[in-house]
Amino acid sequence: MKLIAQGAEAKLFLEEGNILKNRFKKTYRIKEIDEKLRSFRTRREAKILQKLHAIAFPAPKLIKNDEKENLVIENIGGKLIKNILEKNNYKKLCNEIGGKIAVLHNNSIIHGDLTTSNMILSKEVYFIDFGLSFFSEKAEDKAVDLHLLKEGLESKHYRIWEKCFKYTLESYRKEAKNSNETLKRLEAVEKRGRYRARKGR
Ligand SMILES: Nc1ncnc2c1ncn2[C@@H]1O[C@H](COP(=O)(O)OP(=O)(O)O)[C@@H](O)[C@H]1O
Ligand SMILES: [Mg+2]
Repeated sequence: MKLIAQGAEAKLFLEEGNILKNRFKKTYRIKEIDEKLRSFRTRREAKILQKLHAIAFPAPKLIKNDEKENLVIENIGGKLIKNILEKNNYKKLCNEIGGKIAVLHNNSIIHGDLTTSNMILSKEVYFIDFGLSFFSEKAEDKAVDLHLLKEGLESKHYRIWEKCFKYTLESYRKEAKNSNETLKRLEAVEKRGRYRARKGR
């Protein structure tokens, strides 16, 4: 099997044309806690991917789930938004991304790790990496989701981040239910500081 990516919590392999996502053991965690956490995130990601498939949201199809540490998911051919944003029509891409975050939030799905490393440009923009996702209708949770995207843009796309975030919010405002409340909450969230979940921990 060919290793295609290794992050803080998972190794991704190419397996018969699909992607195997393995949440590997973390020896610095207490064994029982480590197993619970990896199993929880694996099951969580599987559950969200099924929900996304049901609403025809562009995300990988779930193929297998061992409920412990392995998911087999569809391989989305394309390029990471992280690697192509600057070189492309980023107004169009960010408008699309904002509209898609609105669709997630309108379905009470908080992504939990919105970054341009978790988006792939194929025929359209696909979202991946739902291990930190959860269901919520709270403006606070939606606002933090958007805030995390902003932090990621600032650090990875510092030349264009302000415009990118503006374009993202323009379409989010139009498409998301209760977007006024969420965006107002975002202002409050901005004043409070950093939020990024630490996956590796
Ligand atoms: N379904 C997929 N199709 C294509 N590439 C993928 C897919 N899932 C993951 N990848 C690649 O593997 C990387 C890591 O996967 P991800 O699910 O984001 O795990 P993590 O960030 O937790 O390590 C992604 O940034 C992407 O490059
Ligand atoms: Mg990721």
